[in-house]
Amino acid sequence: MFRCNRTDTYFVNFERYFSIIKYFPMGKGRKKRFQHKRGNATSSDNQRKEREPAQAYKDIIKENANFEKYYKTQGIVPPEEWENFMKVLRESLPATFRITGYRGQAKALLNIIKGKYFEDLLKIKSNETDSWKPFSLPWYPADLAWQMKLSRVTIRSSEGFRQLHNFLVSETETGNISRQETVSMIPPLLLGVQPHHKVLDMCAAPGSKTAQLIEFLHSDEGKIPDGLIVANDLDNRRCYMLVHQAKRLNSPCLLITNNDAANFPNIKIKEDEKMSYLKFDRILCDVPCSGDGTIRKTAEIWKKWNTANGNNLHGLQLRILRRGLEMLAPGGRIVYSTCSLNPVENEAVISTILQEAKGTAELLDVASSLQGLKTCPGLSYWKVANKELEFFEKFEEVPEKNLTHIRPHMFPPSSEVLQDLHLEWCLRVLPHHQDTGGFFVAVIQKTNKLPWEKTIDDVKENRDR
Ligand SMILES: C[S@@+](CC[C@H](N)C(=O)[O-])C[C@H]1O[C@@H](n2cnc3c(N)ncnc32)[C@H](O)[C@@H]1O
Repeated sequence: MFRCNRTDTYFVNFERYFSIIKYFPMGKGRKKRFQHKRGNATSSDNQRKEREPAQAYKDIIKENANFEKYYKTQGIVPPEEWENFMKVLRESLPATFRITGYRGQAKALLNIIKGKYFEDLLKIKSNETDSWKPFSLPWYPADLAWQMKLSRVTIRSSEGFRQLHNFLVSETETGNISRQETVSMIPPLLLGVQPHHKVLDMCAAPGSKTAQLIEFLHSDEGKIPDGLIVANDLDNRRCYMLVHQAKRLNSPCLLITNNDAANFPNIKIKEDEKMSYLKFDRILCDVPCSGDGTIRKTAEIWKKWNTANGNNLHGLQLRILRRGLEMLAPGGRIVYSTCSLNPVENEAVISTILQEAKGTAELLDVASSLQGLKTCPGLSYWKVANKELEFFEKFEEVPEKNLTHIRPHMFPPSSEVLQDLHLEWCLRVLPHHQDTGGFFVAVIQKTNKLPWEKTIDDVKENRDR
Protein backbone atom coordinates (compact mmCIF):
# COMPACT_ATOMS: atom_id res chain seq x y z
CA MET A 1 0.00 0.00 0.00
CA PHE A 2 1.34 3.39 -0.89
CA ARG A 3 0.48 6.48 1.06
CA CYS A 4 1.44 9.99 0.08
CA ASN A 5 0.69 13.12 2.03
CA ARG A 6 2.05 15.43 -0.63
CA THR A 7 -0.39 16.95 -3.04
CA ASP A 8 2.13 17.99 -5.69
CA THR A 9 3.44 15.68 -8.37
CA TYR A 10 5.67 12.69 -7.80
CA PHE A 11 6.92 9.72 -9.70
CA VAL A 12 5.57 6.27 -8.97
CA ASN A 13 7.69 3.31 -9.85
CA PHE A 14 4.90 0.83 -10.48
CA GLU A 15 7.10 -2.25 -10.48
CA ARG A 16 8.28 -1.36 -7.02
CA TYR A 17 4.80 -0.77 -5.67
CA PHE A 18 3.39 -3.86 -7.30
CA SER A 19 5.83 -5.90 -5.27
CA ILE A 20 4.83 -3.94 -2.18
CA ILE A 21 1.20 -4.93 -2.55
CA LYS A 22 2.24 -8.53 -3.06
CA TYR A 23 4.37 -8.72 0.05
CA PHE A 24 2.76 -6.08 2.20
CA PRO A 25 2.99 -7.43 5.77
CA MET A 26 -0.26 -7.29 7.68
CA GLY A 27 1.33 -7.52 11.17
CA LYS A 28 0.44 -5.19 14.01
CA GLY A 29 3.75 -3.28 14.07
CA ARG A 30 3.45 -2.43 10.41
CA LYS A 31 -0.11 -1.27 10.90
CA LYS A 32 0.93 1.08 13.66
CA ARG A 33 3.75 2.56 11.63
CA PHE A 34 1.36 3.35 8.79
CA GLN A 35 -1.37 4.67 11.05
CA HIS A 36 -3.20 7.51 9.35
CA LYS A 37 -3.30 10.70 11.40
CA ARG A 38 -5.97 12.54 9.45
CA GLY A 39 -9.58 12.21 10.48
CA ASN A 40 -12.24 11.13 8.02
CA ALA A 41 -15.81 12.26 8.40
CA THR A 42 -17.14 9.02 7.00
CA SER A 43 -14.81 6.64 8.78
CA SER A 44 -16.94 3.89 10.21
CA ASP A 45 -14.34 3.35 12.90
CA ASN A 46 -14.54 6.92 14.13
CA GLN A 47 -18.29 6.71 14.08
CA ARG A 48 -18.22 3.46 16.02
CA LYS A 49 -16.20 5.07 18.82
CA GLU A 50 -18.69 7.91 19.21
CA ARG A 51 -21.79 5.80 18.90
CA GLU A 52 -23.87 4.86 21.89
CA PRO A 53 -24.51 1.11 22.37
CA ALA A 54 -26.42 0.00 19.30
CA GLN A 55 -30.15 -0.37 19.76
CA ALA A 56 -31.41 -3.79 18.70
CA TYR A 57 -32.52 -3.45 15.09
CA LYS A 58 -35.91 -5.00 15.80
CA ASP A 59 -36.58 -2.19 18.33
CA ILE A 60 -35.93 0.58 15.85
CA ILE A 61 -39.13 2.22 14.69
CA LYS A 62 -38.98 2.36 10.93
CA GLU A 63 -40.57 5.78 10.56
CA ASN A 64 -39.11 9.15 9.70
CA ALA A 65 -41.59 11.87 8.78
CA ASN A 66 -38.83 14.15 7.46
CA PHE A 67 -37.51 11.43 5.16
CA GLU A 68 -41.01 10.91 3.75
CA LYS A 69 -41.69 14.62 3.32
CA TYR A 70 -38.32 15.22 1.66
CA TYR A 71 -38.57 12.43 -0.89
CA LYS A 72 -42.26 12.98 -1.62
CA THR A 73 -41.36 16.60 -2.44
CA GLN A 74 -38.48 15.54 -4.68
CA GLY A 75 -40.76 13.21 -6.65
CA ILE A 76 -38.21 10.40 -6.92
CA VAL A 77 -41.03 7.82 -6.77
CA PRO A 78 -44.23 7.95 -8.86
CA PRO A 79 -47.08 8.86 -6.41
CA GLU A 80 -48.97 5.61 -7.07
CA GLU A 81 -45.89 3.61 -6.01
CA TRP A 82 -45.22 5.55 -2.79
CA GLU A 83 -46.91 3.10 -0.38
CA ASN A 84 -45.09 0.15 -1.86
CA PHE A 85 -41.78 2.06 -1.82
CA MET A 86 -42.16 2.75 1.91
CA LYS A 87 -43.33 -0.80 2.65
CA VAL A 88 -40.27 -2.32 0.96
CA LEU A 89 -37.91 0.11 2.72
CA ARG A 90 -39.11 -1.35 6.04
CA GLU A 91 -38.32 -4.91 4.97
CA SER A 92 -34.90 -6.50 5.42
CA LEU A 93 -32.65 -6.65 2.40
CA PRO A 94 -32.52 -10.03 0.65
CA ALA A 95 -29.29 -12.02 0.69
CA THR A 96 -27.21 -11.78 -2.46
CA PHE A 97 -23.83 -13.03 -3.57
CA ARG A 98 -21.47 -12.91 -6.50
CA ILE A 99 -19.19 -15.71 -7.61
CA THR A 100 -15.71 -14.26 -7.64
CA GLY A 101 -12.48 -15.05 -9.45
CA TYR A 102 -11.27 -15.01 -13.03
CA ARG A 103 -13.61 -16.23 -15.76
CA GLY A 104 -12.65 -19.92 -16.17
CA GLN A 105 -12.31 -20.42 -12.45
CA ALA A 106 -15.61 -18.62 -11.72
CA LYS A 107 -17.40 -20.70 -14.36
CA ALA A 108 -16.12 -23.94 -12.88
CA LEU A 109 -17.18 -22.75 -9.46
CA LEU A 110 -20.61 -21.79 -10.75
CA ASN A 111 -21.11 -25.30 -12.11
CA ILE A 112 -20.19 -26.79 -8.74
CA ILE A 113 -22.45 -24.37 -6.88
CA LYS A 114 -25.37 -24.90 -9.26
CA GLY A 115 -24.87 -28.63 -9.22
CA LYS A 116 -23.89 -29.92 -5.82
CA TYR A 117 -24.79 -26.98 -3.60
CA PHE A 118 -28.00 -25.71 -5.11
CA GLU A 119 -29.41 -29.21 -5.63
CA ASP A 120 -28.86 -29.95 -1.96
CA LEU A 121 -30.12 -26.56 -0.91
CA LEU A 122 -33.21 -26.88 -3.03
CA LYS A 123 -34.14 -30.05 -1.15
CA ILE A 124 -34.60 -27.96 1.98
CA LYS A 125 -38.14 -28.17 3.23
CA SER A 126 -39.48 -24.78 3.99
CA ASN A 127 -42.85 -23.69 5.35
CA GLU A 128 -42.73 -20.86 2.93
CA THR A 129 -43.24 -21.31 -0.78
CA ASP A 130 -40.28 -22.03 -3.01
CA SER A 131 -39.90 -18.35 -3.73
CA TRP A 132 -36.82 -17.99 -1.50
CA LYS A 133 -34.68 -20.07 -3.83
CA PRO A 134 -31.67 -18.36 -5.42
CA PHE A 135 -32.11 -16.82 -8.87
CA SER A 136 -29.40 -15.31 -11.04
CA LEU A 137 -29.61 -11.60 -11.81
CA PRO A 138 -30.53 -11.35 -15.50
CA TRP A 139 -28.31 -8.33 -16.17
CA TYR A 140 -25.12 -9.74 -14.63
CA PRO A 141 -22.93 -11.63 -17.15
CA ALA A 142 -22.58 -15.40 -17.09
CA ASP A 143 -25.00 -16.08 -14.21
CA LEU A 144 -22.35 -14.99 -11.73
CA ALA A 145 -24.63 -12.92 -9.44
CA TRP A 146 -27.42 -14.39 -7.31
CA GLN A 147 -30.23 -13.09 -5.14
CA MET A 148 -32.64 -14.84 -2.75
CA LYS A 149 -35.97 -13.77 -1.36
CA LEU A 150 -34.58 -14.31 2.12
CA SER A 151 -32.89 -11.82 4.37
CA ARG A 152 -29.50 -12.54 5.93
CA VAL A 153 -31.19 -12.44 9.35
CA THR A 154 -33.70 -15.15 8.39
CA ILE A 155 -30.93 -17.33 6.99
CA ARG A 156 -28.83 -16.85 10.12
CA SER A 157 -31.57 -17.42 12.64
CA SER A 158 -33.63 -20.20 11.11
CA GLU A 159 -32.69 -23.84 11.68
CA GLY A 160 -34.22 -24.76 8.30
CA PHE A 161 -31.66 -22.65 6.52
CA ARG A 162 -28.59 -23.87 8.43
CA GLN A 163 -27.16 -25.56 5.34
CA LEU A 164 -27.62 -22.42 3.26
CA HIS A 165 -26.03 -20.34 6.02
CA ASN A 166 -23.03 -22.68 6.22
CA PHE A 167 -22.65 -22.51 2.45
CA LEU A 168 -22.64 -18.70 2.45
CA VAL A 169 -20.21 -18.43 5.38
CA SER A 170 -17.71 -21.04 4.20
CA GLU A 171 -17.63 -19.91 0.57
CA THR A 172 -17.22 -16.28 1.64
CA GLU A 173 -14.33 -17.28 3.90
CA THR A 174 -12.55 -19.10 1.09
CA GLY A 175 -13.16 -16.13 -1.21
CA ASN A 176 -15.22 -18.15 -3.72
CA ILE A 177 -18.18 -15.85 -3.30
CA SER A 178 -18.57 -12.23 -2.25
CA ARG A 179 -21.73 -11.25 -0.39
CA GLN A 180 -22.03 -8.05 -2.33
CA GLU A 181 -25.31 -6.16 -2.53
CA THR A 182 -27.13 -6.33 -5.85
CA VAL A 183 -26.99 -2.61 -6.60
CA SER A 184 -23.32 -2.35 -5.66
CA MET A 185 -22.48 -4.67 -8.58
CA ILE A 186 -23.75 -2.15 -11.16
CA PRO A 187 -21.02 0.56 -11.45
CA PRO A 188 -18.08 -1.70 -12.50
CA LEU A 189 -20.26 -3.25 -15.21
CA LEU A 190 -20.99 0.19 -16.67
CA LEU A 191 -17.29 1.09 -16.81
CA GLY A 192 -16.59 -1.52 -19.50
CA VAL A 193 -13.03 -2.25 -18.35
CA GLN A 194 -10.76 -4.00 -20.87
CA PRO A 195 -7.37 -5.63 -20.27
CA HIS A 196 -5.38 -2.70 -21.70
CA HIS A 197 -7.15 -0.03 -19.63
CA LYS A 198 -5.54 2.08 -16.95
CA VAL A 199 -8.19 2.19 -14.24
CA LEU A 200 -8.54 4.30 -11.11
CA ASP A 201 -10.93 3.41 -8.27
CA MET A 202 -10.99 6.66 -6.28
CA CYS A 203 -12.88 5.58 -3.13
CA ALA A 204 -12.31 1.87 -3.19
CA ALA A 205 -12.51 0.39 0.31
CA PRO A 206 -13.56 -2.20 1.37
CA GLY A 207 -13.05 -3.24 -2.24
CA SER A 208 -16.01 -5.25 -3.54
CA LYS A 209 -16.13 -3.14 -6.70
CA THR A 210 -12.33 -3.16 -7.02
CA ALA A 211 -12.53 -6.97 -7.09
CA GLN A 212 -14.94 -6.77 -10.04
CA LEU A 213 -12.64 -4.32 -11.82
CA ILE A 214 -9.66 -6.67 -11.34
CA GLU A 215 -11.72 -9.55 -12.73
CA PHE A 216 -12.67 -7.53 -15.83
CA LEU A 217 -9.06 -6.42 -16.35
CA HIS A 218 -8.04 -10.09 -16.38
CA SER A 219 -10.81 -11.14 -18.77
CA ASP A 220 -8.24 -12.26 -21.35
CA GLU A 221 -7.30 -15.33 -19.39
CA GLY A 222 -3.81 -16.72 -19.42
CA LYS A 223 -2.35 -13.32 -20.29
CA ILE A 224 -1.05 -10.67 -17.92
CA PRO A 225 -3.06 -7.57 -18.85
CA ASP A 226 -1.28 -4.52 -20.26
CA GLY A 227 -3.45 -2.30 -18.09
CA LEU A 228 -3.46 -1.64 -14.37
CA ILE A 229 -5.73 -0.69 -11.50
CA VAL A 230 -5.00 1.95 -8.89
CA ALA A 231 -7.37 1.50 -5.94
CA ASN A 232 -7.43 4.38 -3.48
CA ASP A 233 -9.14 5.22 -0.20
CA LEU A 234 -8.67 8.00 2.34
CA ASP A 235 -9.29 5.77 5.34
CA ASN A 236 -6.11 3.96 6.28
CA ARG A 237 -7.85 1.18 8.20
CA ARG A 238 -10.27 0.54 5.38
CA CYS A 239 -7.26 0.32 3.03
CA TYR A 240 -6.26 -2.82 4.94
CA MET A 241 -9.69 -4.29 4.13
CA LEU A 242 -9.02 -3.37 0.53
CA VAL A 243 -5.65 -5.16 0.60
CA HIS A 244 -7.30 -8.24 2.12
CA GLN A 245 -10.10 -8.28 -0.48
CA ALA A 246 -7.76 -7.69 -3.44
CA LYS A 247 -5.08 -10.17 -2.37
CA ARG A 248 -7.47 -13.05 -3.02
CA LEU A 249 -7.31 -12.29 -6.73
CA ASN A 250 -3.51 -12.20 -6.69
CA SER A 251 -3.26 -9.71 -9.57
CA PRO A 252 0.16 -8.29 -10.45
CA CYS A 253 -1.56 -5.23 -11.92
CA LEU A 254 -2.84 -3.57 -8.77
CA LEU A 255 -1.57 -0.60 -6.80
CA ILE A 256 -3.30 0.48 -3.59
CA THR A 257 -2.95 4.09 -2.48
CA ASN A 258 -4.08 5.96 0.64
CA ASN A 259 -4.95 9.50 -0.39
CA ASP A 260 -7.66 12.11 -0.36
CA ALA A 261 -9.28 11.47 -3.75
CA ALA A 262 -10.22 15.14 -4.08
CA ASN A 263 -6.50 15.99 -4.08
CA PHE A 264 -5.17 12.88 -5.74
CA PRO A 265 -1.69 13.75 -6.97
CA ASN A 266 -0.69 13.66 -10.62
CA ILE A 267 1.44 10.63 -11.47
CA LYS A 268 4.35 11.40 -13.75
CA ILE A 269 5.17 8.84 -16.44
CA LYS A 270 7.69 8.69 -19.26
CA GLU A 271 6.20 8.04 -22.70
CA ASP A 272 8.28 8.21 -25.88
CA GLU A 273 11.11 9.82 -23.92
CA LYS A 274 8.75 12.57 -22.76
CA MET A 275 7.41 13.08 -19.27
CA SER A 276 3.64 13.48 -18.94
CA TYR A 277 0.86 12.95 -16.41
CA LEU A 278 -0.71 9.51 -16.34
CA LYS A 279 -4.29 9.74 -17.59
CA PHE A 280 -6.71 6.93 -16.83
CA ASP A 281 -9.02 5.26 -19.37
CA ARG A 282 -11.63 4.30 -16.78
CA ILE A 283 -12.38 5.83 -13.37
CA LEU A 284 -14.78 4.66 -10.71
CA CYS A 285 -15.97 7.45 -8.44
CA ASP A 286 -18.02 5.61 -5.78
CA VAL A 287 -18.06 8.56 -3.42
CA PRO A 288 -18.79 8.78 0.33
CA CYS A 289 -22.50 9.53 0.70
CA SER A 290 -25.31 9.79 3.23
CA GLY A 291 -26.22 6.19 2.35
CA ASP A 292 -29.99 6.40 2.72
CA GLY A 293 -30.31 3.85 -0.09
CA THR A 294 -28.97 1.31 2.42
CA ILE A 295 -31.74 1.96 4.96
CA ARG A 296 -33.02 -1.64 4.60
CA LYS A 297 -29.66 -2.92 5.80
CA THR A 298 -28.79 -0.15 8.27
CA ALA A 299 -31.98 0.46 10.23
CA GLU A 300 -30.26 3.16 12.34
CA ILE A 301 -30.73 5.51 9.36
CA TRP A 302 -34.45 5.66 10.26
CA LYS A 303 -33.51 7.45 13.48
CA LYS A 304 -30.72 9.63 12.16
CA TRP A 305 -31.84 10.72 8.70
CA ASN A 306 -31.82 14.48 8.08
CA THR A 307 -31.21 16.80 5.13
CA ALA A 308 -27.91 18.13 6.51
CA ASN A 309 -26.18 14.79 5.82
CA GLY A 310 -26.65 15.07 2.08
CA ASN A 311 -26.10 18.84 1.93
CA ASN A 312 -22.81 18.52 3.84
CA LEU A 313 -21.43 15.85 1.51
CA HIS A 314 -22.27 17.59 -1.77
CA GLY A 315 -19.05 19.68 -1.81
CA LEU A 316 -16.74 16.73 -1.18
CA GLN A 317 -18.54 14.61 -3.78
CA LEU A 318 -18.16 17.38 -6.34
CA ARG A 319 -14.44 17.85 -5.58
CA ILE A 320 -13.78 14.11 -5.92
CA LEU A 321 -15.65 13.89 -9.24
CA ARG A 322 -13.87 17.03 -10.53
CA ARG A 323 -10.47 15.56 -9.69
CA GLY A 324 -11.49 12.28 -11.33
CA LEU A 325 -12.46 14.06 -14.53
CA GLU A 326 -9.10 15.87 -14.55
CA MET A 327 -7.25 12.55 -14.39
CA LEU A 328 -9.38 10.94 -17.12
CA ALA A 329 -7.98 10.64 -20.65
CA PRO A 330 -10.07 12.26 -23.41
CA GLY A 331 -12.30 9.49 -24.76
CA GLY A 332 -12.27 7.85 -21.31
CA ARG A 333 -15.24 7.05 -19.09
CA ILE A 334 -15.97 7.87 -15.46
CA VAL A 335 -18.75 6.24 -13.45
CA TYR A 336 -20.14 8.30 -10.55
CA SER A 337 -22.20 6.37 -8.01
CA THR A 338 -23.75 6.70 -4.56
CA CYS A 339 -26.00 4.54 -2.40
CA SER A 340 -28.08 7.64 -1.70
CA LEU A 341 -31.40 8.62 -3.27
CA ASN A 342 -30.82 12.34 -2.68
CA PRO A 343 -30.65 14.60 -5.79
CA VAL A 344 -28.32 17.01 -3.95
CA GLU A 345 -25.72 14.21 -3.75
CA ASN A 346 -26.49 12.97 -7.23
CA GLU A 347 -27.99 15.04 -10.07
CA ALA A 348 -26.73 18.31 -8.51
CA VAL A 349 -23.13 16.99 -8.55
CA ILE A 350 -23.43 15.73 -12.14
CA SER A 351 -25.12 18.90 -13.37
CA THR A 352 -22.45 21.14 -11.81
CA ILE A 353 -19.51 19.21 -13.23
CA LEU A 354 -21.04 19.09 -16.72
CA GLN A 355 -21.57 22.85 -16.67
CA GLU A 356 -17.99 23.45 -15.50
CA ALA A 357 -16.68 21.15 -18.26
CA LYS A 358 -18.31 23.37 -20.91
CA GLY A 359 -18.92 20.60 -23.43
CA THR A 360 -15.69 18.64 -22.79
CA ALA A 361 -17.62 15.96 -20.84
CA GLU A 362 -21.05 14.48 -21.47
CA LEU A 363 -23.43 11.97 -19.95
CA LEU A 364 -23.87 8.65 -21.75
CA ASP A 365 -27.27 7.01 -22.11
CA VAL A 366 -26.61 3.58 -20.62
CA ALA A 367 -30.12 2.62 -19.47
CA SER A 368 -30.41 -0.21 -21.97
CA SER A 369 -26.93 -1.61 -21.48
CA LEU A 370 -27.92 -3.74 -18.49
CA GLN A 371 -30.84 -5.71 -19.95
CA GLY A 372 -33.31 -6.75 -17.28
CA LEU A 373 -32.35 -4.09 -14.72
CA LYS A 374 -35.20 -1.68 -14.02
CA THR A 375 -34.03 1.90 -13.46
CA CYS A 376 -35.63 5.36 -13.28
CA PRO A 377 -34.31 8.33 -15.28
CA GLY A 378 -32.43 11.05 -13.42
CA LEU A 379 -34.36 14.10 -12.20
CA SER A 380 -34.26 17.41 -14.06
CA TYR A 381 -35.84 19.30 -11.23
CA TRP A 382 -35.43 19.16 -7.44
CA LYS A 383 -35.54 21.42 -4.41
CA VAL A 384 -32.96 22.03 -1.72
CA ALA A 385 -34.01 21.92 1.94
CA ASN A 386 -32.46 23.11 5.19
CA LYS A 387 -32.48 21.05 8.38
CA GLU A 388 -35.87 22.49 9.37
CA LEU A 389 -37.21 21.16 6.08
CA GLU A 390 -37.93 24.51 4.49
CA PHE A 391 -37.67 23.93 0.75
CA PHE A 392 -36.00 26.33 -1.71
CA GLU A 393 -36.36 26.34 -5.48
CA LYS A 394 -33.62 28.87 -6.15
CA PHE A 395 -30.45 29.92 -4.34
CA GLU A 396 -31.84 33.48 -4.09
CA GLU A 397 -34.55 32.17 -1.71
CA VAL A 398 -32.06 30.77 0.83
CA PRO A 399 -32.08 32.73 4.11
CA GLU A 400 -28.82 34.13 5.42
CA LYS A 401 -28.63 31.62 8.29
CA ASN A 402 -28.35 28.76 5.74
CA LEU A 403 -25.87 30.34 3.33
CA THR A 404 -22.87 28.55 4.83
CA HIS A 405 -24.13 25.08 3.94
CA ILE A 406 -26.57 25.59 1.05
CA ARG A 407 -24.56 26.53 -2.03
CA PRO A 408 -25.68 27.73 -5.51
CA HIS A 409 -24.55 24.54 -7.31
CA MET A 410 -26.91 22.37 -5.24
CA PHE A 411 -29.82 23.72 -7.30
CA PRO A 412 -31.02 22.51 -10.70
CA PRO A 413 -29.82 24.53 -13.69
CA SER A 414 -32.07 26.82 -15.70
CA SER A 415 -34.27 25.18 -18.33
CA GLU A 416 -32.05 26.49 -21.20
CA VAL A 417 -28.95 24.85 -19.71
CA LEU A 418 -30.83 21.74 -18.67
CA GLN A 419 -31.72 20.45 -22.10
CA ASP A 420 -28.07 20.02 -23.14
CA LEU A 421 -27.11 18.13 -20.01
CA HIS A 422 -29.46 15.13 -20.39
CA LEU A 423 -29.75 14.53 -16.67
CA GLU A 424 -32.43 11.97 -17.56
CA TRP A 425 -29.52 9.70 -18.57
CA CYS A 426 -28.54 9.37 -14.93
CA LEU A 427 -30.01 6.20 -13.41
CA ARG A 428 -31.75 5.67 -10.07
CA VAL A 429 -32.56 2.19 -8.79
CA LEU A 430 -35.57 2.19 -6.49
CA PRO A 431 -35.72 -0.52 -3.81
CA HIS A 432 -39.28 -1.68 -4.49
CA HIS A 433 -38.67 -2.35 -8.19
CA GLN A 434 -36.37 -5.33 -7.73
CA ASP A 435 -36.26 -5.90 -3.98
CA THR A 436 -32.85 -4.20 -3.64
CA GLY A 437 -31.22 -1.22 -1.94
CA GLY A 438 -31.54 2.27 -3.45
CA PHE A 439 -28.76 3.45 -5.75
CA PHE A 440 -27.71 6.20 -8.16
CA VAL A 441 -25.29 5.90 -11.05
CA ALA A 442 -24.20 8.10 -13.96
CA VAL A 443 -21.68 7.48 -16.73
CA ILE A 444 -19.70 10.44 -18.08
CA GLN A 445 -17.48 10.43 -21.15
CA LYS A 446 -14.71 12.98 -21.48
CA THR A 447 -14.52 14.24 -25.03
CA ASN A 448 -11.69 16.73 -24.68
CA LYS A 449 -9.25 18.41 -22.29
CA LEU A 450 -11.15 20.30 -19.55
CA PRO A 451 -11.11 24.11 -19.76
CA TRP A 452 -8.91 24.40 -16.65
CA GLU A 453 -6.82 21.25 -17.17
CA LYS A 454 -3.04 21.70 -17.18
CA THR A 455 -0.51 19.52 -19.00
CA ILE A 456 2.91 18.87 -17.53
CA ASP A 457 4.31 21.50 -19.94
CA ASP A 458 1.79 24.13 -18.77
CA VAL A 459 2.83 23.50 -15.17
CA LYS A 460 6.53 23.66 -16.07
CA GLU A 461 6.05 26.88 -18.01
CA ASN A 462 4.25 28.45 -15.07
CA ARG A 463 7.02 27.42 -12.71
CA ASP A 464 9.75 28.78 -15.01
CA ARG A 465 8.05 32.11 -15.43
C1 LIG B 1 -19.19 4.15 -0.66
S1 LIG B 1 -17.72 3.76 0.14
C2 LIG B 1 -16.83 2.93 -1.13
C3 LIG B 1 -17.24 1.50 -1.31
C4 LIG B 1 -16.31 0.77 -2.27
N1 LIG B 1 -16.26 1.42 -3.57
C5 LIG B 1 -16.72 -0.67 -2.45
O1 LIG B 1 -17.41 -1.00 -3.39
O2 LIG B 1 -16.35 -1.50 -1.62
C6 LIG B 1 -16.92 5.32 0.18
C7 LIG B 1 -15.46 5.23 0.58
O3 LIG B 1 -14.92 6.54 0.43
C8 LIG B 1 -13.89 6.69 1.37
N2 LIG B 1 -13.61 8.15 1.44
C9 LIG B 1 -14.20 9.10 2.18
N3 LIG B 1 -13.69 10.30 1.90
C10 LIG B 1 -12.73 10.10 0.95
C11 LIG B 1 -11.82 10.95 0.26
N4 LIG B 1 -11.79 12.27 0.48
N5 LIG B 1 -10.97 10.38 -0.61
C12 LIG B 1 -10.97 9.05 -0.84
N6 LIG B 1 -11.81 8.21 -0.21
C13 LIG B 1 -12.67 8.72 0.67
C14 LIG B 1 -14.44 6.05 2.62
O4 LIG B 1 -13.38 5.68 3.47
C15 LIG B 1 -15.19 4.85 2.03
O5 LIG B 1 -14.36 3.73 2.05
